[in-house]
Amino acid sequence: MKIDGVAYRSVWVDAEDGWSVRIFDQTKLPWAVEVLRLTHEDEVAHAIRSMQVRGAPLIGAVAAYGVALALRRQADDAFLLGLIAMLGETRPTAINLRWALARMEKALLSLPETDRPAAAYAEAAAIADDDVETCRAIGQHGLPLIEEIAARKKPGEPVNILTHCNTGWIATVDYGTALSVIYQAHDAGIPVHVWVDETRPRNQGGYLTAWELGRHGVPHTVIADNAGGHLMQHGQVDICLVGTDRVTRQGDVANKIGTYLKALAAHDNKVPFWVALPHSTLDMSVRDGLREIPIEERNPAEMTHVSGKLPDGTVASIRVVAEGSEAANPAFDVTPARLVTGLITERGRCEASEAGLLGLYPEKA
Ligand code: MRU
Repeated sequence: MKIDGVAYRSVWVDAEDGWSVRIFDQTKLPWAVEVLRLTHEDEVAHAIRSMQVRGAPLIGAVAAYGVALALRRQADDAFLLGLIAMLGETRPTAINLRWALARMEKALLSLPETDRPAAAYAEAAAIADDDVETCRAIGQHGLPLIEEIAARKKPGEPVNILTHCNTGWIATVDYGTALSVIYQAHDAGIPVHVWVDETRPRNQGGYLTAWELGRHGVPHTVIADNAGGHLMQHGQVDICLVGTDRVTRQGDVANKIGTYLKALAAHDNKVPFWVALPHSTLDMSVRDGLREIPIEERNPAEMTHVSGKLPDGTVASIRVVAEGSEAANPAFDVTPARLVTGLITERGRCEASEAGLLGLYPEKA
């Protein structure tokens, strides 16, 4: 995607030195566009934990580059396996992280130590390229859903889409997942308008999705997380489109906290609720999302404090919860498959069920 006319991915190898890894510091957006230089696996682990990089597919790709960075110094089996275990523990819910690290292990462990550093960079680049193509294809397969709704509208009347969290190009290597569908509909000339859930506590909607959509010229309105149900009751949402951090064999969907409540409201109001995912988000080793997906508990300070721009232009973190009150911060929830209208993948659309998934991914039987 482009920022001020310049095309970027969300992670890349520095063109000048040929080995360090560049990312946007997402904790600084939307107030500043800052590029970070990562040179050591500990910096990569910190970037993932602190959410300088975030979004399920992107943390997988960045972790893969973290392996490449580390192997420049040391590449024996014990070091490689310890490194993969360390990076794999940085965030628990998105399966893409472990998927990417397992792919690195498979590509590297059978090689002689001397070949591992170059092979690690090549495999990390292949993971990144795969994600770009996958996300582009997700957009293509989701596009007919928007076209169908647009065909029922009066000419020029926008398709109203509600989304949660940030599923855009900065959550992936490029394009995004649910936002890839929206970008491609917008680029195809379909009038769209996006209701952007603010997504407390970390405000990925207000900070990141609003920034991305604004930069791309997509009409949007930021709403409080609690507004979606009301808008659905009043016919102001045509479709919900969200991403996911893990989809189970039976089609249960883990995503940013609050997704489940939107799915409940959508179900009650007969609003279609679609979930976009790349193959790297599928975890066929688990079935019951509610019992089997680990839910990340983050620092309660993310709940008690928000950061924002003060009138003098400085950015500050302020407390928004009464002193002395405790806060809890579960970062994800699980939407049962029965509340999901369907899944949008790089191979097409399917029902959120084992049969639906196996229809698209027979090799995962
Ligand atoms: O905690 P985050 O910001 O990493 O959570 C991101 C999401 O929940 C996205 O919806 C998800 O990663 C899928 S879209 C790329």
